[in-house]
Amino acid sequence: MAGARPEGGPGAGARRQFGNRLLDDPTRVFHHNAWDHVEWSEEQAAAAERKVRENSCQRVCPEKQADYEVNAHKYWNDFYRIHENGFFKDRHWLFTEFPELAPSQSHNHLKNKNESLECRSNEEGPGFTDEQHRCSCPSPGYEAQGPPVEENVSQKLSHLEICADEFPGSSATCRILEVGCGVGNTVFPILQINNNPGLFVYCCDFSSTAVELVQTNSEYDPSRCFAFVHDVCDEDQSYPMPRNSLDVVVLIFVLSALVPDKMQKAISRLSTLLKPGGMMLLRDYGRYDMAQLRFKKGQCLSENFYVRGDGTRVYFFTQDELDTLFTTAGLEKVQNLVDRRLQVNRGKQLMMYRVWIQCKYRKPLGPSTS
Ligand SMILES: C[S@@+](CC[C@H](N)C(=O)[O-])C[C@H]1O[C@@H](n2cnc3c(N)ncnc32)[C@H](O)[C@@H]1O
Repeated sequence: MAGARPEGGPGAGARRQFGNRLLDDPTRVFHHNAWDHVEWSEEQAAAAERKVRENSCQRVCPEKQADYEVNAHKYWNDFYRIHENGFFKDRHWLFTEFPELAPSQSHNHLKNKNESLECRSNEEGPGFTDEQHRCSCPSPGYEAQGPPVEENVSQKLSHLEICADEFPGSSATCRILEVGCGVGNTVFPILQINNNPGLFVYCCDFSSTAVELVQTNSEYDPSRCFAFVHDVCDEDQSYPMPRNSLDVVVLIFVLSALVPDKMQKAISRLSTLLKPGGMMLLRDYGRYDMAQLRFKKGQCLSENFYVRGDGTRVYFFTQDELDTLFTTAGLEKVQNLVDRRLQVNRGKQLMMYRVWIQCKYRKPLGPSTS
């Protein structure tokens, strides 16, 4: 297994993201909640590979696999019905790792965020314990049919004709789309922190329960934000904005929830929505993350893809796999980092090795980008 120092894009190593608390003296492991850039020994890497071989040797039967795919949104609806927004996390890492989400923010704000990284707790993951309007005037490049918008959103937008010239957020100068937004763990912080008056934030999820929780949140402001139900794997569903209209697309712990053979089309389609120069940002599970090693035999769907007890699914990526997905979609690498963190439960004297991957890929400037 590769070493633990940041790898990837230009200058990545020098930036020292993800904090800089290094465990130089192993006897001090229980002195803090988390250690950054941990090195994996060869034995540890071999043990992780063994564990994955063991927990992957028995696959879920095809009938159940089909059910998890066809009813994926229902399993997530159930998840959000049970948890509502009880697991809402303050993602203080968000703007440090992704300053693109609030580029005009003062350095003071970002400095404070950096300071808070020094005292990270165990909350860097996704925040889960285990873990229609039809356009009457379509124009070139615009996907004419609107998405299946929930009734209350339709009402809120009844005055709008969604078309190439006029669509939700059409007058904005900066447009961000969060895919698989859940209950808004990323969207609301963006709306709070990014004070660009030209900002408009879209967010979608195929769980109507999650989208409803976003829409009914007291911070949901339809003049700055549009939440809609959308399945990124469903090619028959259209996005409510034209091609080449987004500055940023954000994917936080969502690509891993898709069946692997549908990931490429989803990413390629999202990249058509980016403006030339626009950025796709991702943070997600890496190969051999603690969550992968904890799966039991019988939960494996396909290589590195598992189903949790509640029917939701998760994939564990390598950096190369993500690079292939983004570059095949015509995007250029800006950053592709692995974040290996040792989280510590001091009370229970437990050590948890986390592996996350963070990527930034840009749509090239130029004529061949639509
Ligand atoms: C691990 S959760 C992450 C939620 C949110 N990004 C966060 O970090 O809190 C994965 C989310 O992806 C959504 N999701 C899974 N598959 C999807 C799909 N095909 N289309 C849209 N959303 C999807 C789920 O409903 C869930 O809200």
